[in-house]
Amino acid sequence: MKEQLLAIKEKALDSIENCTDIKECDAIRITFLGKKGQLTAILKQMGRLSAEERPVIGQMANEIRTEIEKTLVEKQGRLKLVQIEKKLEEEAVDVTVSLKEHKLGKAHPLTQTINEISAIFAGMGYTVVDGPEIDTVARVFDLLNAEENHPSRDPSDTFYIDDNTLLRTQTSSVQIRVMQEQKPPIAIISPGRVYRRDEVDATHSPIFHQCEGLVVDKGLTFGDLKGTLIYFAKQYYGEDMELRFRPHHFPFTEPSCEIDCQCFKCHGKGCPTCKGEGWIEILGAGMVHPNVLRNCGIDPEIYSGFAFGMGIERLTMFKHEIEDMRLLYENNLRFLSQF
Ligand code: PHE
Repeated sequence: MKEQLLAIKEKALDSIENCTDIKECDAIRITFLGKKGQLTAILKQMGRLSAEERPVIGQMANEIRTEIEKTLVEKQGRLKLVQIEKKLEEEAVDVTVSLKEHKLGKAHPLTQTINEISAIFAGMGYTVVDGPEIDTVARVFDLLNAEENHPSRDPSDTFYIDDNTLLRTQTSSVQIRVMQEQKPPIAIISPGRVYRRDEVDATHSPIFHQCEGLVVDKGLTFGDLKGTLIYFAKQYYGEDMELRFRPHHFPFTEPSCEIDCQCFKCHGKGCPTCKGEGWIEILGAGMVHPNVLRNCGIDPEIYSGFAFGMGIERLTMFKHEIEDMRLLYENNLRFLSQF
């Protein structure tokens, strides 16, 4: 019986030694120590032993049981550790790994221009207002004092929706909206999209952007207009930017002028960029026509005002030396990301 016990012990310790799985440990326990296990089977035969032998074998059997049990528990502990380590390794997150860089987008150059203009005028106390791109013939032409036969009224120049509604050809329609709704003093700019039946080329597009400005108050003069626009141009293009005011005609302003910037390439000498002129037109402006004030219920005997309008594309192209307007609409990232 002693040999049998020692053989069981050896087999049990061997299986524990070679076991690699926690579940297997449970199976070993059942095989050797369970109710129907090998050690129990031996103990059941103890009755056949002599009275002297019984306590000796009994003690030996107990010692073997304890040893197997102890070895099993230790093994289980070790296997559990291995299991945890493996799991930690599998689930590890490498915080030092560098992830793919996410590039932040930026505003389109035309939007940048609108934002810069808005910031400069906001600094002078102007409010930025929005106007609808579809407006009435009254607001785009009639109330702005446009002559009955003004060429811009012609359907060959303008997109009509019906006889009274059209895609605005100029943001000047916002002048009317503001003066109809607000009492002076007024100081607004209104950037936005306008539409004209032009063929697409390097300097034309049927859809482009303008920014209108309007100031109405008591005692405003042409001097206020000049001072404002000179300040704006120096803020936008730089302190050394020179402006040239030329007489012009607009139905809604009297007197009216066009304003040129000194050419950025030749500084006034004349070059291909400015077509030999030395100057590039960037603004239309003038003192608000008394008829326009009257049309909007403002008394021209008490109030005066000035208005101006500029092309956003033109300002952007001039500032960034872009020679073809179409580049601004093609959404080519290689072009756009330069600005
Ligand atoms: N609306 C004019 C244009 O489209 C520009 C302008 C605005 C001129 C305001 C004078 C005053 O050309």
